[in-house]
Amino acid sequence: MKILVLNGPNLGRLGTREPEVYGSTTYAELVATCQEVEPEADVRQTDDEATMIGWLHEAADTATPVVLNPGAWTHYSYALRDAATLAPAVIEVHLSQTSAREEFRHTSVISPVARGTITGLGVEGYRAAIRALQSY
Ligand code: DQA
Repeated sequence: MKILVLNGPNLGRLGTREPEVYGSTTYAELVATCQEVEPEADVRQTDDEATMIGWLHEAADTATPVVLNPGAWTHYSYALRDAATLAPAVIEVHLSQTSAREEFRHTSVISPVARGTITGLGVEGYRAAIRALQSY
């Protein structure tokens, strides 16, 4: 089953980025984990908001469900939210437990347009999100 797994800014640095918060799994290992659960998972990462919006438009045009970790865009990007609204099904995932962190991370402008949100389970959250999309 074709699924897009879209990762926002700084997530390409997993493994070395604040391991006490995000764990020691590298981005390459995250990609491998997703493809283990769904061999057709197309896993991407960008630090560029316009590119991410383009990928969400692609999901809309091809009716492809999405696992989305929007990184810091989660907390303020209405442009991303509007694009996510167009996609057929979006599950929002965060590696860390955002509600237990700084105040600005307690708000997600994406959650209201997501089918569901998984936070704080690390890479396990991606597995759960992919399985949920497979079962729809
Ligand atoms: C994150 C949480 C965000 O607040 C942060 O900006 C990230 C990663 C997570 O996966 O826990 O880049 O989305």
